[in-house]
Amino acid sequence: KPIYLKDYTAPDYRFAKVVLDFELGEEVTVVGNTISVEPTFAAGGDPRPLFLNGDPTVELAGVEVNGTALDASAYVLTKKGLTITAPPAAPFELKITTKIKPQENTELEGLYKSSGNFCTQCEAEGFRRITFYQDRPDVMSEFTTRITADKAKYPVLLSNGNLVDSGDLDGGKHFTVWEDPFPKPAYLFALVAGDLGMIEDKFTTKSGREVALRIYVEEHNLDKADWAMVSLIKSMKWDEDVFGLEYDLDLFNIVAVDDFNMGAMENKSLNIFNSRLVLATPQTATDMDYSAIEGVVAHEYFHNWTGNRVTCRDWFQLSLKEGLTVYRDQEFSADMNSRGVKRIGDVARLRMAQFPQDAGPMAHPIRPESYIKMDNFYTVTVYEKGAEVVRMYETLLGKDGFRKGMDLYFERHDGQAVTCDDFLAAMADANGADLTAFKPWYSQAGTPKLDVTTEYDAAAKTFTMTCTQSTPTTPGQSDKKPVLMPIAVGLLASDGSDMELTLEGEAGAAGETTKVLRFSEASQTFVFTDVAEKPVPSILRNFSAPVRLSTDLTQEDLIFLMANDSDQFNRWEAGQTLTRALLLDLVEKAGKGEELVMDQAIVDAMRNIVNLAKEKGADKAFIARAMALPSEGELSEMVVPADPDVIHAARDFVVKTLAKELKEELLWTMRDNTSEKYERDGESRAARTLKNTCLALLSYLEDPEIDAEAFRRFKTADNMTDQISALSALSGRADCVEREEAIDAFYEQWKHDPLIMNKWLGLQAGASLPNNVENVKRLVDHPAFDIKNPNKVYSLVGGFVGGTPINFHAADGSGYEFLGDIVLKIDKLNGGVAARMVGGFTRWRKYDEKRQEMMKAQLERIVKTEGLSENVFEIVSKSLE
Ligand code: ARG
Ligand code: ZN
Repeated sequence: KPIYLKDYTAPDYRFAKVVLDFELGEEVTVVGNTISVEPTFAAGGDPRPLFLNGDPTVELAGVEVNGTALDASAYVLTKKGLTITAPPAAPFELKITTKIKPQENTELEGLYKSSGNFCTQCEAEGFRRITFYQDRPDVMSEFTTRITADKAKYPVLLSNGNLVDSGDLDGGKHFTVWEDPFPKPAYLFALVAGDLGMIEDKFTTKSGREVALRIYVEEHNLDKADWAMVSLIKSMKWDEDVFGLEYDLDLFNIVAVDDFNMGAMENKSLNIFNSRLVLATPQTATDMDYSAIEGVVAHEYFHNWTGNRVTCRDWFQLSLKEGLTVYRDQEFSADMNSRGVKRIGDVARLRMAQFPQDAGPMAHPIRPESYIKMDNFYTVTVYEKGAEVVRMYETLLGKDGFRKGMDLYFERHDGQAVTCDDFLAAMADANGADLTAFKPWYSQAGTPKLDVTTEYDAAAKTFTMTCTQSTPTTPGQSDKKPVLMPIAVGLLASDGSDMELTLEGEAGAAGETTKVLRFSEASQTFVFTDVAEKPVPSILRNFSAPVRLSTDLTQEDLIFLMANDSDQFNRWEAGQTLTRALLLDLVEKAGKGEELVMDQAIVDAMRNIVNLAKEKGADKAFIARAMALPSEGELSEMVVPADPDVIHAARDFVVKTLAKELKEELLWTMRDNTSEKYERDGESRAARTLKNTCLALLSYLEDPEIDAEAFRRFKTADNMTDQISALSALSGRADCVEREEAIDAFYEQWKHDPLIMNKWLGLQAGASLPNNVENVKRLVDHPAFDIKNPNKVYSLVGGFVGGTPINFHAADGSGYEFLGDIVLKIDKLNGGVAARMVGGFTRWRKYDEKRQEMMKAQLERIVKTEGLSENVFEIVSKSLE
């Protein structure tokens, strides 16, 4: 069943042109598919079969070659597709007719209906659910698409490229014809037909092309699309300024749909988005939603070059476009907002989601070697670790060197379907660099461990760093090679300033205060010379490589870095390292039933952080970040076996103690950062984040006065960020009268808005209340929930599994049983969504024996279920291996 990278072969047939003809209907949709086929092999010899992928939900209604119907003996139809056994040896025209039922498509892959409108999702392998085709990214062709539909029901008919014809037809129907001049793989095909409103703007590219920008949403959401439009325009400008990349057509469309498996899709000139990543007003969306919209609109737009103009040869190369495009959207967001805070958020996410994946049974390299279902490899590893790998080129080669590499990449590969090796070669060749030692990043799974020990020699005035690396064994990979990683280092003098650095054996630029060490052996030493006094080293600045770092820094060093490091990331990181150590120590004590004692030095360090908010020009978004402790999830990765109750107890103790000790500071900071009126500029947003972080901490005090204040803030909030923060502060409070009242009031206020209902579901699902699984089960039957809608499932089921470890891992197994039951229900409708949810079980080996047994029992029950999707089968069977 698995498909292997090593088995790749180039296609025998090229598809020069494709003409699609959709007759959209309520009962049945008929798709005509006329392909200009050209053999890629030399004439003569035996004919080679032409295989076209196709899904069992597609009914084959006709096959013609050069205008003549094919005899049934000339082709073979299976569950996987259609084989034309002996096609003509010369170029020919193949016409396939299929019938499909989009209204019954609950997988939301291929052509389906969302809120009564037709839309598509073809990446990775959805096109085969529309028609028979060589559904692989290295088959690129020019698409023409004709759409016919009822005019009253579907006034808007869209596809890729330029609108070349349109008109009315008999019987209340109408049609449009679209032509996309850029050859593309089928996964970038898109179609939308519906009753939609639209906002329009324009952008003039630097070479003078005027581009119409349109965002389509349901009529009643027309007031919520402005921020997406602003974000799109900023993205187009940024890509020109930073990478010299311009848009290449006269029209760019975005469509928002409510039912969508993932975030969004970069279909050529017709991006389709999950509506949660388009729709926003201050009253309905949080500051975090705004950032997500900005980032994802940019991400999909950037794909036009990194993904569409240059695409992937095969799906093993997915990180070629995704890692690179995530890196690009991260850089864009960093430029639009606070760079350091953005970096901190991205690294926190990597640690919380990707490190665990890299340490579990689903661990895979950013370029996987095999898969059963490609959908399962749209992972934090391919995306986020992939982006870290791209970032390392930039750190190793410098900004200019990186740009040179990008330029060469486009010069060589525009219009092609290529590999990760091609990208590495462009980076290396453009810079005359040898990047051989960098290659294992693509082939090795697992998070490398980096150990650094340091020594200062006062007489010689040298500071020596000894670096050691190793990558842990992962499933199917035991023999790991050392890998080239950039280690960005600064040395702090006793006054907190950065020293100027000279690295032995290297002619660095004068005045450099951060050096990038090129570390590529299993072990290496680096010597800094002319170091006047014993420095405090700031290691792995800006998180220059995605590794687990351990150093010989003392608690005192860390507190010093927290206060003084010029690298904002490492200032945050010092605090994390400090509190992580404290928490791990307390987890051990709690596990043994010992009394928990708070470390006063950490209380003081935290007090200093909070007090920074009083300073003029304080970076409040950073302060809020620095106040957040490592999550229960992050800690559970570091304790064997993990006991969620003990981890929760230890962390709760630290948060409560901090809240108690810093109560005055927190109250003051909360009030000082409370504004009269909502504003959306960066400073106001940062103040809002800080204020709500204070409130969240204070809510741990279980103090009736704080509850009352949270409730008052809930009722008077003039924006969603404040409203949801106040509700969230109450949602975890077990016996507080305001809790239920606020939850009900929020429901009554917002029940007409499905996106806000996602928040309402998620908040309740993730609350660490005793026996919260019962609440979650009740919510499954609540009208606000809909098992067919991925957003709802992610909020309720995902919110429960990820949000409240003590409930998901409840000792009686009730959380596991709930997940097992609902995964099987979801799987009957949507295998992709079910597979994402069943991921809650993959790390079962991390827990104590009793929990292991119960989780394993669920996995075994699931894997034995008849009719299981390939998606869930792959995750579950690999988890059990
Ligand atoms: N290419 C899209 C993006 O990252 C994601 C599509 C994912 N689709 C899927 N079926 N897994 O922008
Ligand atoms: Zn993407």
